[in-house]
Amino acid sequence: MAVDSPSGVIIVAAVFLHAATTIVFGSDSVLKLERLIPPSHELSLAELRAFDSARHGRLLQSPVGGVVDFPVYGASDPFLVGLYYTKVKLGTPPREFNVQIDTGSDVLWVACSSCNGCPKTSELQIELSFFDPGTSSSASMVSCSDKRCSSNFESESGCSPNNLCSYAFKYGDGSGTSGYYISDFVSFDTVITSTLAINSSAPFVFGCSNLQTGDLQRPRRAVDGIFGLGQGSLSVVSQLATQGLAPRVFSHCLKGDSNGGGVMVLGQIKRPDTLYTPLVPSQLHYNVNLQSIAVNNQILPIDPSVFTIATGDGTIIDTGTTLAYLPDEAYNPFVQAISSAVSQYGRPITYESYQCFDITSGSVDVFPEVSLSFAGGATMVLTPRDYLQMFSSSGSSIWCIGFQRSQQPRRITILGDLVLKDKVVVYDLVRQRIGWAVYDCSLEVNVSATGGGRSKDVINTGQWRDSKSSEIDYYYYLFLLQVAFLLHILLSRNFLHFL
Ligand SMILES: *[C@@H]1O[C@H](CO)[C@@H](O)[C@H](O)[C@H]1NC(C)=O
Ligand SMILES: *[C@@H]1O[C@H](CO)[C@@H](O)[C@H](O)[C@H]1NC(C)=O
Repeated sequence: MAVDSPSGVIIVAAVFLHAATTIVFGSDSVLKLERLIPPSHELSLAELRAFDSARHGRLLQSPVGGVVDFPVYGASDPFLVGLYYTKVKLGTPPREFNVQIDTGSDVLWVACSSCNGCPKTSELQIELSFFDPGTSSSASMVSCSDKRCSSNFESESGCSPNNLCSYAFKYGDGSGTSGYYISDFVSFDTVITSTLAINSSAPFVFGCSNLQTGDLQRPRRAVDGIFGLGQGSLSVVSQLATQGLAPRVFSHCLKGDSNGGGVMVLGQIKRPDTLYTPLVPSQLHYNVNLQSIAVNNQILPIDPSVFTIATGDGTIIDTGTTLAYLPDEAYNPFVQAISSAVSQYGRPITYESYQCFDITSGSVDVFPEVSLSFAGGATMVLTPRDYLQMFSSSGSSIWCIGFQRSQQPRRITILGDLVLKDKVVVYDLVRQRIGWAVYDCSLEVNVSATGGGRSKDVINTGQWRDSKSSEIDYYYYLFLLQVAFLLHILLSRNFLHFL
């Protein structure tokens, strides 16, 4: 989700579809990795030395910088979950919060115990938590005169009557949140070697929300808050990098299947086939220069200026957006090209805001390949599964184009989870570029703790994580999904009309 800039220049629609499903699952055992020193594992001398120096670093109160690992939960499919989230530990003693991974905003905020309008339950089957500054021994308020109060360029930080530095964010879908800033400890896992991670903590400023409006009030996709990974000075990556605890580069690999999950690290996931495009300088969001879209290798007749900030609202990379959005001038030729490519295999159906196709042959392979070309010669190839959502009922397969029209009068292009999943995506803030490489996010990855990626700093994530088991039985989950899906169809007059 992208936040409105104070001047209202950019609004991004966060998409909330009302599918009837309500279930989510814990991360599956994607990465069979171990935390800390597993009982059966013998440490090499080098690892012991690394562990010792990390520990000494902590004893001396000097920070240990390195790759910081955050777990990933959730999935991209809007009919199932439609968001990715991580767990972050705040306060003393540390308490855990589930927060949406959002490269479209800058601040980490969580619902506070004083919240008005915060949902009390979540349909994502997570227990919602509320931060209570009174129960954390290390929490303090950020006062209006604090430098950190004016450093946040995303919102106009304000001053509440009791001298608390306050904020108000409004998101593109009309929802909003406001509250005040807290300074407290954040705890996280720093990876020392490929088999070793240590708990680290650092002082951190985050938002304590006491008011929520719009979709943020609904239990449908409720999480505890938002994990802002933007470039602003209060974002998670900026605050840890400024303290020397993490590199100024981060990466994710979001699994696209219904189990979801994936990898997120402050560090650079190394893939030899990563293609980079420069970030557009001095933007609030991760803006890139999209230049053309091709369907089946045919470049679509779209004036490239619709993708730029000079004449449009630009093109942004945003994990906080579920789907992908194109302005009318690009959306129409895009849908038309796909429709004509599959016209012989099935009939078009309009379902809510989706252009769908009932493909009688049932195979997604009849859909064309799409490629997006960016400045610097980087292309992002989208297979049918990277731009379609499946809607399947017995006997027939309905595929819907996940790309949507951007909401008028906005002329913004947003590349959300729909296209970012099943790829390594690297946000290199040092060299001001974004890279991607198609990858199976259930595999292990090599991560570099420096943006430059000296090979000596590269560690493999192979072993440091826990294997986590599903929170609910997978077959029960599938059964619920089917029931929910049938209900959904029955309740949708729109759809019945076409059946
Ligand atoms: C690290 O944190 C985890 C989870 O918060 C905890 O279970 C574990 O005991 C901690 N380990 C150390 C060495 O502090
Ligand atoms: C990690 O790096 C090593 C050494 O460069 C390489 O052999 C291996 O294939 C890499 N693994 C992955 C998953 O990228």
